[in-house]
Amino acid sequence: MKTLFKNIKELIQIRDADVSFVAGAEMKNLPSLKDAFLLIEDGLIADFGLMSEQPENSVDEIIDASGKMILPSWCDSHTHIVYAGNREGEFVDRINGLTYEQIAAKGGGILNSAKKLQEISEEELYEQSKHRLEEVIQLGTGAIEIKSGYGLTVEAELKMLRVIRRLKEDYPIPIRATFLGAHAIPQKYKQDKQGYLDLLVDKLLPIIAKEKLAEFIDVFCEQGYFSVADTEFILKAGKSYGLVPKVHVNQFNTIGGVQMSVKYDALSVDHLEVMEDADIESLKNTHTMPVALPACSYFLGIPYTPARRIIDEGLPIALASDYNPGSSPSGNMNFVVSTACIKMKISPEEAINAATLNGAYAMGLEKEVGSIAKGKRANLLLTRAINSLNMLPYSFGTNSIEQVFISGKTVQYNR
Ligand code: NIG
Ligand code: FE
Repeated sequence: MKTLFKNIKELIQIRDADVSFVAGAEMKNLPSLKDAFLLIEDGLIADFGLMSEQPENSVDEIIDASGKMILPSWCDSHTHIVYAGNREGEFVDRINGLTYEQIAAKGGGILNSAKKLQEISEEELYEQSKHRLEEVIQLGTGAIEIKSGYGLTVEAELKMLRVIRRLKEDYPIPIRATFLGAHAIPQKYKQDKQGYLDLLVDKLLPIIAKEKLAEFIDVFCEQGYFSVADTEFILKAGKSYGLVPKVHVNQFNTIGGVQMSVKYDALSVDHLEVMEDADIESLKNTHTMPVALPACSYFLGIPYTPARRIIDEGLPIALASDYNPGSSPSGNMNFVVSTACIKMKISPEEAINAATLNGAYAMGLEKEVGSIAKGKRANLLLTRAINSLNMLPYSFGTNSIEQVFISGKTVQYNR
């Protein structure tokens, strides 16, 4: 099956397939071609170039993209979309003055979601989660990472990871799974945190490895949750089972989580709302991708990750949604890109690099998605007729995407 897009006003994020991420000043550069064609063959990008140089080709379908732009679909490297119910009550509690940390301290927060998740069946959890997945695909997400961490018991963590596996099997976008058993200390283990950590390492990790239920290992490294020493304990154990670290660090406090994650060759460190000089220094000359989650800052009213400074220091940055019921009940990557430009003062080009190629890298998918490169999957966004790319972040709240293509096929989920 061959599909040809022709008369593309601008084809954005064209790269050699071996460019795995962009950092520092390079992030301002978003290579593109004006008046371009794009040829898709069997779901993969087969060729692209200027209309004036388009080779003769017999194709099955031609799509005229006059006035419109094409870019790779969003790569959302940090989500928690498998969860049960919602936490709109806590949202109102926060409006009335409680903080996220105060709500958590009285048994709300992650423990509230864990209770709900433990009570519902795997089937029901799958049903709820698949609607969120369909929603974000329709909004332009073409690759996604999903974490466990609302189970907090052996059975419930496995239930979450099996739901993620089912989503992988049933949906056409690449999905990566992360084991986040160390997300909160369950009530039962309040006085015995090490007992809970031992349960994760001795009981859960062997099953997860045997059933290949996750690629990554995560810890919520934060005051009141898991210490730097706990983080080391979990990352070390995860690595011994072949899981690669991707870690929640520096959301509210800087306690050394970035340095510990780097020590264990983390693929990414995520959140980073609170960053000291030493945290930034420790990321230089590493392969660890800093990941910012601006929708979480927006929703909780906490500081934004200093993405501008991180880029100016020569580092890369990726953007992700953090879609979850407590701190970011939205997986809309268009909003994430826009908010990053508005609140973090990064340019549209930087934000698009961060939400495509760098996002793909932050979940180990840079060879498959994240740029327009020959051989990569044709997971694409076709914009409406727009003047310039700046319209995407500028017109926040408006859907500037006309059509989403996954493996070259248009997707439409009815909700
Ligand atoms: O990434 N910070 C830790 N975990 C999630 C929020 C969890 C929740 O509140 O349910 C996050 O923000
Ligand atoms: Fe998160």
